[in-house]
Amino acid sequence: MKTLEEMDLKGKRVLLRVDLNCPIEGGVVADDTRIRAVLPSINYCLEQGARLILCSHLGRPKGERRPEFSLAPVAKRLSEILKKDVALADDCIGQTAEEAVTKLGEGDCLLLENVRFHPGETKNDPELAKALARLCDVFVNDAFAACHRAHASVVGVPEYVAECGAGFLLKKELDYFKKAMGDPVRPLVAIMGGAKVSSKLGAITNILNKVDKLIIGGAMANTFLKAKGINVGDSLVEDELLDEAKGILQLAKEKGVPLYLPVDAVCAESMEAQDTFIRPYGEIPKGLKAFDIGPASVTLFREVLQDARTVVWNGPLGAFEKRQFSRGTFAISSTLASLHALTIVGGGDTDRAVHEAGDASQMSYMSTGGGAFLHLLEGKELPGVVALEKCGG
Ligand code: 3PG
Repeated sequence: MKTLEEMDLKGKRVLLRVDLNCPIEGGVVADDTRIRAVLPSINYCLEQGARLILCSHLGRPKGERRPEFSLAPVAKRLSEILKKDVALADDCIGQTAEEAVTKLGEGDCLLLENVRFHPGETKNDPELAKALARLCDVFVNDAFAACHRAHASVVGVPEYVAECGAGFLLKKELDYFKKAMGDPVRPLVAIMGGAKVSSKLGAITNILNKVDKLIIGGAMANTFLKAKGINVGDSLVEDELLDEAKGILQLAKEKGVPLYLPVDAVCAESMEAQDTFIRPYGEIPKGLKAFDIGPASVTLFREVLQDARTVVWNGPLGAFEKRQFSRGTFAISSTLASLHALTIVGGGDTDRAVHEAGDASQMSYMSTGGGAFLHLLEGKELPGVVALEKCGG
């Protein structure tokens, strides 16, 4: 896979696929992390004298032109950050886009309107891919967070462009992931959290081949605890996945990977309730549900993490969005922040939790990918990366 530095960009029309899928509130970008993450590639292209065309999706407009999914707020924020005008082409293909591209001088930058306004994007329609490819001489993918999607602007375009490559963010994401999961400094500890076992089954199964220890928290821990015959009160359990959970517990045993589950929980009658009760697992009465790991679990997990030299964390350990259930997740975040280890955090909720805990700058790497990060944890190749490798240009 070529990287930006290996490409001659001067005077070329460069189509840079980025993931500017930022939260928009009241018509304004509420969090510009994803814009800032691709600035190194944008600035490099501009410095090299490229005629830069940015292409992104925003949300899931389902192939329709819906104003609430317009990239206009992103164009505005990007113009502010770059301190230069970034025009928004009203459509990502066709005459509008072509005319806007023609007007670009060297070192100019243009943002195309949401590529998902076209139904062909999510269907990987070759006609859409060809129309995007016609806009450029060079295609660069820097949209790590969208690389698990076999969409036209991710995997289709490279089929029709002679020269393709990876942007700095995509390269950095893959390099960090490889460092952590490919050839890690050991012990390597993974922390998996989140609400549902169903969404993490593939990832947990795969990482059992790689990690030295595995910590499981979040609501999905209830399913594992119940699978072990431990009473979890009225906590959320995926009963239909009890056999799969037993399978994972067995697999961990066979692989000799210690698997740690919470030993206590912060419980309440509902997530809205203010009255909370700390209960050991096994003694959670009917009517109470676990919403966070308890203090004894925090102590246990801290001990498990003490000698870690590499840690990968995906998924919060409780309902941290409610103050009364945030302590467990925040405590583990601050533990990671203080470790002398390579610490990689991935997933939208985990990212938010670490930011809210104020620990983001203390982590070795905060991935910009949610689904894409999970895809890698599952041991799968990213279609966007495969497409670049095939392009070979
Ligand atoms: C993300 O936010 O994870 C990416 O932008 C991909 O979005 P999607 O899940 O709508 O494809």
